[in-house]
Amino acid sequence: MKLRWFYPQFDEKEQIAAMKVIESQYINDGEVTAQFEQAVANFIGCKHCVAVTSGTAAIALSLMALGIGPGDEVIVPDFTFIATANAVRLTGAEVKLVDIEPVRFTIDPNRIRSAIGPRTKAIIPVDVNGRGADYAAIESIAKECGLAVICDSAEALGSKYQGKYLGTYGDAGCFSFSANKTVSSGQGGMVATNKPEVYHRLKELKDHGRRFGGTGGNDLHPVMGYNFKYTNLQAAIALAQFGKIEKRLQHFQQRDQWYRTALEFCEGITLPLLHTDTGEVRQWTDLLCLDRSRLEELFHKEAIDCRPFWLPLHRQKPYLLPDVGFENTIQISAQGLWLPSFFDITKEDIHRVAAVIHQISQVAGVQ
Ligand SMILES: Cc1ncc(COP(=O)(O)O)c(C=O)c1O
Repeated sequence: MKLRWFYPQFDEKEQIAAMKVIESQYINDGEVTAQFEQAVANFIGCKHCVAVTSGTAAIALSLMALGIGPGDEVIVPDFTFIATANAVRLTGAEVKLVDIEPVRFTIDPNRIRSAIGPRTKAIIPVDVNGRGADYAAIESIAKECGLAVICDSAEALGSKYQGKYLGTYGDAGCFSFSANKTVSSGQGGMVATNKPEVYHRLKELKDHGRRFGGTGGNDLHPVMGYNFKYTNLQAAIALAQFGKIEKRLQHFQQRDQWYRTALEFCEGITLPLLHTDTGEVRQWTDLLCLDRSRLEELFHKEAIDCRPFWLPLHRQKPYLLPDVGFENTIQISAQGLWLPSFFDITKEDIHRVAAVIHQISQVAGVQ
């Protein structure tokens, strides 16, 4: 049987919750959306959460809420899903790419300083696969240089960095509820912030300049805004998913442990470290392999799905730059892949994957 990489899972809890919203005949952004926002805010320990249509929208609206737009520049790591950079472009601002550090795959704070120019207004650290960026260093640079920090925590809901939930660092933290996330409603996103002015501006931006829903008729729209609302229907599914988060996080940790044990003496690969002692949780198990294409071939033959790491952003057409200064991203991007990591993966499944990976260590020439 094919072993999938990852997929969302639903049961009767989501079905019942969605049906209740349908029966209520109020499927738009409303009470259930507010409940979901409150549930996430309580869980991560943050004053305000605002649900929106996607993680991309969450990042773009956070930037807009902080006054960032045309003429400004925003620092983004070269290694991330392209959405981080696209969200910057959506505001009219420009993207400044910075290399990552090679152990945790997050933006290298030592390279941020030299990337700051007169138009730089913000940094977007990305908590790649639940690994927190170096917030002590980043927040200190941001403070010194008067920059905003918007955290792309799209892949880090429920993961902690040094004991504090990711998404609660900086001026705003952004989550995604797309299909391959710990909590999914198909699409969806959320901004977490402790700043009341950012919160109010987000409410306006997501609903055509209104802070409060009105009749849709003779409402006042005192400022510019758009439509990035998250519906009750989506929120009902997300809330049911959110009720399972603790169990899911525990299973992720168990899964990683199974992989670690099964691959302990495997040569030619590296299982990147994680600070589990301070609460970090990976959504997916990741691995670096010197001969990744061979490993992909072996997986393919054994009907095992995996997901190779993103390409460096500077090699994607909209962000094209010479390779200079992006050595770590280039190397990590070529070696990394995400292994089967779905919610109910078993120890037996992991042994099946590990048996294939062990074949790699038998390939001549792999150190
Ligand atoms: C690191 C990262 N940033 C941003 C996003 C964008 O989120 P969305 O797909 O919900 O727009 C994603 C997820 O897709 C992501 O993985």
